[in-house]
Amino acid sequence: MSEVDTAGWTRKDLIGLEDLSRREIELILDTAPQFVEISKRESGIKKVPLLQGRLVVNWFFEPSTRTRASFELAAKRLSADTLAMSASTSSSTKGETLHDTLANIEAMHSDIVVIRHGHAGAARMLAERHSSQIINAGDGYHEHPTQGLLDAYTIREHVRKARRDPEAGLDGVRVAIIGDISYSRVARSNIWGLTKLGARVVVCGPSTLMPPGIEHMGCEATTDLREALSQADVVYVLRIQLERQQKALLPTLREYIRLFRVDRESLKAAPPHAIVMHPGPINRDIELASDVADGSRSVVLEQVSNGVAVRMAIMHLLVNSGKGWQKTED
Ligand code: CP
Repeated sequence: MSEVDTAGWTRKDLIGLEDLSRREIELILDTAPQFVEISKRESGIKKVPLLQGRLVVNWFFEPSTRTRASFELAAKRLSADTLAMSASTSSSTKGETLHDTLANIEAMHSDIVVIRHGHAGAARMLAERHSSQIINAGDGYHEHPTQGLLDAYTIREHVRKARRDPEAGLDGVRVAIIGDISYSRVARSNIWGLTKLGARVVVCGPSTLMPPGIEHMGCEATTDLREALSQADVVYVLRIQLERQQKALLPTLREYIRLFRVDRESLKAAPPHAIVMHPGPINRDIELASDVADGSRSVVLEQVSNGVAVRMAIMHLLVNSGKGWQKTED
């Protein structure tokens, strides 16, 4: 593998896409293809020594399949040592603070700490006070930046293929994000990331799941699914996060399905070339019909594959860009 350029990356941490410039997002996306190649190696070792001797800690306070596995695999493919910590088996159950736990982990010389936590701001709070390089793997309703980046990468790959242009970007690409906008950190990271890359984003869902003033993030908003789908190049379906809803914000799931489910019938409103995405896990036949999720327009598993390469790119940029860091501050 030729040397992977890290010039242009100056951040210690990755907390959210709201913080990043278009150039920084493009740097991550442009760094990822080399790592896609490594993951696809048919013969030979799917590993490079870019993080050899480094320690990557996966610290998850909420359940995860994709993000956790993807970070672990990405770290291993970069030859890092990995340590998995979960809330239920750590001393946080005995009242230890996040700062104290991290200070103890740092005493064992951690380099990168990947954290998923139920509270918005948890990753930033740790990044401001600790020397470990923090990657936010999802903080409450706030952001899930690596999901936003792997989604942008996946969309860009499809745009490049459709236009037969290996340099094409996302300018003017129309993305409809459907579902539970209020409770979705994935929606927030995608809105920040995609709009910075020049995409036109429309969010769509029940008014009770639509944050007031969402348009200030640079997107449009509608409660009409067919209107949202009518010009979409990308149909991005969100998971209904029943576990996060303290109030009854949906009249009934049947009503939600009738008005907002992406299925073969509602998808007729979208242009035939539109691809279908979902961050996972899917509530099958609630927000997304099974036959669409498993159908030819779905790129759900491509998102997962690309996630490993994008996370390898992020960890490589964070660790190997030199130490002239821009600190994470409010
Ligand atoms: N997309 C996503 O964050 O999935 P997990 O919750 O399984 O990590």
